[in-house]
Amino acid sequence: MEKVSYKELGLVNTREMFQKAMQGKYAIPAYNFNNMEQLQAIVMGCVESRSPFILQVSSGARKYANQTLLRFLAMGAAGMIADANSPVKFALHLDHGDTFELCKSCIDSGFSSVMIDGSHHSYEENIKVTKQVVEYAHAHDVTVEGELGVLAGIEDEVSAEKSTYTKPEEVEDFVAKTGVDSLAISIGTSHGACKFKPEQCTRDERGVLVPPPLRFDILEEIEKRIPGFPIVLHGASSVVAKYVEMINSNGGKLKDAVGIPEEQLRKAARSAVCKINIDSDGRLAMTAMIRKVFTDSPAEFDPRKYLGPAREELTKMIIHKNQEVLGSAGQA
Ligand code: G3H
Ligand code: 13P
Ligand code: ZN
Repeated sequence: MEKVSYKELGLVNTREMFQKAMQGKYAIPAYNFNNMEQLQAIVMGCVESRSPFILQVSSGARKYANQTLLRFLAMGAAGMIADANSPVKFALHLDHGDTFELCKSCIDSGFSSVMIDGSHHSYEENIKVTKQVVEYAHAHDVTVEGELGVLAGIEDEVSAEKSTYTKPEEVEDFVAKTGVDSLAISIGTSHGACKFKPEQCTRDERGVLVPPPLRFDILEEIEKRIPGFPIVLHGASSVVAKYVEMINSNGGKLKDAVGIPEEQLRKAARSAVCKINIDSDGRLAMTAMIRKVFTDSPAEFDPRKYLGPAREELTKMIIHKNQEVLGSAGQA
């Protein structure tokens, strides 16, 4: 495959975005996408709310959508933004890269930022592979996210039985030895739509599951050790109750779905957390609307008639997140 730099595609890396987010006490939303409708919703939602954003691609998404097509989709997104005369800038980011080779391949095909997730390795191995990615990435002015600590949760490509919180005493050494630009930490978030087992939660007066609070004490300890350094929160979907209800009342079976309450994410966004990852909420919004269309119009078979409303719902959700949760709206 021919090598291309993200700069030729009209993209930016995350360096300046994170500096401004740190100063302005907000976080940049990082939305995952796998198809055209998700991409359109992310772009339209962020243009309308004038929010900088990070477009995230997992290795599963890369396999699903085809890596070459993805590059052209990202170029298309940059074109759409320019056509709208919008000042919004975005980074194209590899989510949960697991090898140097995968990170290199993304950098060579136009990504402006990569995550090397060495959190499942030993501490020494994590440092080794992260440092190797940083050396290659920085030579191409691409920014790198590393991870310390393990998040619980099951996704297609990312899975762990239980979480291990980030050890604050390791962060200074890890950042210094690897040269990473940002650090993903584990303080109680997890991937997917069922982030906590019911026995980990309490119930409110209506019987709704209330998850245990995030470990802000660990975050504060980390901030003390690496002041002003950009922190990333994975597994940060709120698992919006409205969408879970829509799914279940239209034939779905989502049991014990529970996420991170918005107020806690808002609090995190005001701290050194500069990037908040959201995938599951986007999946839920689209699925909820598709199920509703099929219930209301069972004879419908034109994909535009169900993907269109799903895209519209996702756009609304993104505007809400940027305005009310991340605080990134108006910061473009
Ligand atoms: O953190 C993982 C993302 O939600 C991506 O999920 O591997 O199913 O594409 P995926
Ligand atoms: P959610 O499953 O909470 O949306 O997390 C997404 C994520 O961390 C992608 O890396
Ligand atoms: Zn993640």
